[in-house]
Amino acid sequence: MRTNLLTVNEFEAAARIIRVGGLVGIPTETVYGLGANGLNPLAVDRIFQAKGRPQDNPLILHIPESSWLERYCEDIPEAAWRLAKRFWPGPLTMILRRKPIVPDVVTAGLDTVGMRCPAHSMCRAIIQAAGVPVAAPSGNTSGKPSPTTAQHMLDDMEGKIDAVLDGGPCTVGVESTIIDLTCRPPRLLRPGGVPLEELQAVLGEVEVDPAVVRPLGDGEQPRAPGMKYRHYAPKAPVTVVRGDPMRSAQYILDHIADSYWEGVICFNEFAHWFEDHPVEQLGGSLDRFEHARRLFRALRAMDENGVKHIWAQCPDTAGMGLAVVNRLSKAAGFHIVDA
Ligand code: TXA
Ligand code: MG
Repeated sequence: MRTNLLTVNEFEAAARIIRVGGLVGIPTETVYGLGANGLNPLAVDRIFQAKGRPQDNPLILHIPESSWLERYCEDIPEAAWRLAKRFWPGPLTMILRRKPIVPDVVTAGLDTVGMRCPAHSMCRAIIQAAGVPVAAPSGNTSGKPSPTTAQHMLDDMEGKIDAVLDGGPCTVGVESTIIDLTCRPPRLLRPGGVPLEELQAVLGEVEVDPAVVRPLGDGEQPRAPGMKYRHYAPKAPVTVVRGDPMRSAQYILDHIADSYWEGVICFNEFAHWFEDHPVEQLGGSLDRFEHARRLFRALRAMDENGVKHIWAQCPDTAGMGLAVVNRLSKAAGFHIVDA
């Protein structure tokens, strides 16, 4: 199969492919997604094949406006409407009770479904034109860092999908925040583009799923099935160094081998400390939105450099930091040291 690269004014072609059961890489504000008609089980099944994704890992449905929620969900709590009003379109996914119209292959047999209304205008235009909800996981090969450009998506999916629509680099850079509204208090299943503090401001109490902050023990089941898999991982092992930026940079300097094959992901201020190594900059140490925007790109760039070990400075968990720390920790298989 040849994978076509579409430009933004070809969104109707992308919609047509989705309508007839094909697979399209779609831009969203968070990461690129691998989209298919969410009401067509055969099309959805092809997503799992293209990604090499385990069948027990459910997909989320993307809709162009909150009024579509009632087509696919029931028992929608009032909190869902409040969140939609405040954060949609935007990087928030809500877990709600599903209606029978949603195919089992989308939800991996669960009685709930993840719903998201993306902010990327081209993404919404594609969904509107397709006239169906679009099932879309992140567009990476399963286990790899998520794609934040059309080229990253092609790097993983060339020859496996029909097309990728190039909507430019993603402005958020980490996936949507996932909140489960079927339990009380609502539960944060994955930190992402909407910071936890902002959800708390709307919902009051929010419980944080343990899988967000630590590896699960044997026999522990995460609420978001995807959180149990090794994820976001570059080829080389990663060591995450936690602590005040000055101290974590010093720790890396003290421990890094004198070899070009050890790479560093660091805040801009410290890049010149590591001149003899491949370096990817995360942004200034205080710029949390920039860290989110650059993280997956940095992990992929390390793969391209072919390094054998990656050292990464770790931001703190305030605001967008929680999502960045979560992705970095998972990329490292929770190999974290304190400086
Ligand atoms: O920003 C995003 O959310 C991107 C873009 C493309 O929209 N999508 C994305 O999808 O990150 P994916 O499939 O890579 O991650 C979705 C996560 C998985 O961990 C999955 O297990 C979880 O959501 N999930 C999906 N449906 C669920 C459900 N009904 N209950 C609990 N977790 C669910
Ligand atoms: Mg994913």
